[in-house]
Amino acid sequence: MAMTRQFTQCCLVLLAATVANTARAQMNEPIVIPSRPGPVEFSHQSHRGIGCGVCHHTVKDGPIERSCRACHTADSRDPANSRDAFHSVCIACHLAERKAGRPSGPAKLCSECHLRQ
Ligand code: HEC
Ligand code: HEC
Ligand code: HEC
Ligand code: HEC
Repeated sequence: MAMTRQFTQCCLVLLAATVANTARAQMNEPIVIPSRPGPVEFSHQSHRGIGCGVCHHTVKDGPIERSCRACHTADSRDPANSRDAFHSVCIACHLAERKAGRPSGPAKLCSECHLRQ
């Protein structure tokens, strides 16, 4: 009995560590978001000062398990399709930062986000 419990606890610890490491690995590597006009590269590193919930609006605390595109698909209407969802979040902030004279990401040129294939 005790052996079984120890074994189970050990497995749970390993499982939790694997989940945490996977999330960290995903955040260190740039994420490539496939898109018809050309793939978009997103780097968490370039956005590390920003609270997670600014973008991951469905998660208040705890782990983030689902990508935006799990809910915002190319054709969804409710919630907004992925183009409208991403454009409003990404471009709105970059425009605001630029207006305030601070460093920002791409806001106007499509090809600065949609890389050539
Ligand atoms: C500036 C916007 C932004 C911020 C801030 C942000 N993320 Fe993300 N995150 C994204 C985008 C965009 C994706 C990729 C979404 C997609 O592929 O649909 C992503 C993906 C992820 C994924 C992978 C999800 C999956 O299942 O593929 C994890 C984990 C994650 N973010 C965690 C975090 C955590 C933790 C924070 C805060 C420390 C954070 N993010 C802050 C925009 C952001
Ligand atoms: C679990 C599903 C889910 C995930 C994951 C999700 N969203 Fe949403 N999103 C929704 C729903 C539902 C709404 C509409 C209700 C609301 O505003 O909360 C919405 C609304 C929005 C809106 C407002 C759109 C409008 O027309 O008013 C934006 C922008 C947005 N999401 C961007 C994102 C981004 C960027 C990500 C990933 C970082 C993301 N969402 C992840 C479900 C999701
Ligand atoms: C709340 C503000 C905010 C949001 C939301 C945001 N960004 Fe940014 N982004 C910035 C700032 C600030 C910089 C400049 C960072 C620097 O130069 O120090 C930046 C830089 C960038 C860069 C150039 C640096 C690099 O990593 O190549 C790209 C590309 C970029 N953002 C893409 C995106 C995409 C795609 C999204 C939406 C998923 C997004 N950003 C959402 C604030 C934001
Ligand atoms: C800040 C980065 C950024 C800028 C600037 C930007 N986009 Fe996007 N765009 C994205 C992201 C992220 C997506 C979501 C990926 C997806 O689901 O296709 C997207 C999605 C799209 C889609 C939907 C494609 C599909 O497969 O459903 C179109 C079309 C599009 N963008 C066109 C444009 C055009 C035209 C411009 C210039 C006027 C532009 N974008 C500027 C980041 C950007």
